[in-house]
Amino acid sequence: MSRGRRLWLAVAGLLLGAAIAGPAGWPWPEGRPAPRVPADNRMSAAKVELGRRLFYDADLSIDGSMSCATCHVQRRAFADGNATHPGVHGDPGRRNVPGLANIAWAKSLTWGDPRVRTLEAQVLIPVTGLSPVEMGMNGKEGEIAARLGRDACYVRMFRAAFPEADGRIDMAGVAKALAAFQRTMISNQSPYDRWRSGRRDALSEIQQQGERAFARRCVACHAGPDLSDGRFHRIEPEADDPSAGDPGLSEITGRAADIGRFRTPGLRNVALTAPYLHDGSASTVAAAIDRHADIARRLSDGDRRAIEAFLDTLTDRVFTGDRRLSLPQSACGVEL
Ligand code: HEC
Ligand code: HEC
Repeated sequence: MSRGRRLWLAVAGLLLGAAIAGPAGWPWPEGRPAPRVPADNRMSAAKVELGRRLFYDADLSIDGSMSCATCHVQRRAFADGNATHPGVHGDPGRRNVPGLANIAWAKSLTWGDPRVRTLEAQVLIPVTGLSPVEMGMNGKEGEIAARLGRDACYVRMFRAAFPEADGRIDMAGVAKALAAFQRTMISNQSPYDRWRSGRRDALSEIQQQGERAFARRCVACHAGPDLSDGRFHRIEPEADDPSAGDPGLSEITGRAADIGRFRTPGLRNVALTAPYLHDGSASTVAAAIDRHADIARRLSDGDRRAIEAFLDTLTDRVFTGDRRLSLPQSACGVEL
């Protein structure tokens, strides 16, 4: 074999090895395809551990008062129970805090912006975003790196997570670690999941009836394992004044037809993530269903009750109680 050929084979072998050690090297749950993971942010236990600590660290906010977990609360499936949540300077929140279950599989992130396609990119919105200001770190990314760099344990954790960058502490690394941690926020142990895997007794009679009604009335948009098609729809009639209220998707596309269109929210753990809709204006699941103008009008009372019973089966207490996703008690072997 020529030297060139041997070299080529060696390179091909390396590339192939990298592909195999990629998504397949992480224990993603059975039963659905592995999620998309950026090639420059492969999963590792060290990265996930770092991301978990960062998720709960208020040093990511300007005055040290707010972490990701301030708004994304585990026992509420990582939503927060408020219609909207003000930022560090008291700027009113603009939209409802969504839960974060199975966020690794989302086609795009946030209620209204299809351009936000990775969890890495999304991190910058709360940390440095200006509309609204949430954690207040715009232009202060260096300050985050300096704060973390003063903590010897973070220095070790970044080294373990990013050996290829010699453990460099910067905003890109923070975003990568947070993204890796959030990809482990997997909810797949609800009664609905047990039912899907063949356990017919996991759902009661009325819940099964609700599942069938849901399949008829709702699955056009709330489709797939997370009950979202990932697309943008308008569920309410147009307002008389189109400039009133949240422009939704049209803010990004500039198209009048996109006014009031929002990404179909996934419905996992929906019983825990009240209030609902992009502005948190529906305080109960029933109220949220009512706001689907055309669809709600055609629902019989029986179907409505059954669908509500079915939606309760999406609650996953293993997920909300999973210690691997909770506030870490220690880092580098020392209590936090
Ligand atoms: C002040 C409250 C607040 C804080 C702090 C906050 N978030 Fe959020 N988060 C929100 C809101 C509100 C949205 C929805 C924004 C929108 O759609 O415009 C959101 C959306 C998200 C989404 C998209 C979810 C989806 O379904 O598309 C992810 C992921 C996320 N946040 C992660 C984080 C991370 C990581 C942090 C910390 C770096 C964080 N958030 C800090 C309020 C907050
Ligand atoms: C045409 C697509 C479509 C159909 C069909 C549809 N939905 Fe929705 N659903 C949406 C969109 C889009 C939103 C978010 C709207 C908003 O925030 O303004 C939503 C929001 C919700 C919410 C609130 C979730 C949250 O976290 O805020 C619930 C609950 C819900 N839908 C249940 C249902 C049920 C039950 C049905 C069937 C009876 C149904 N939907 C049919 C598109 C749809």
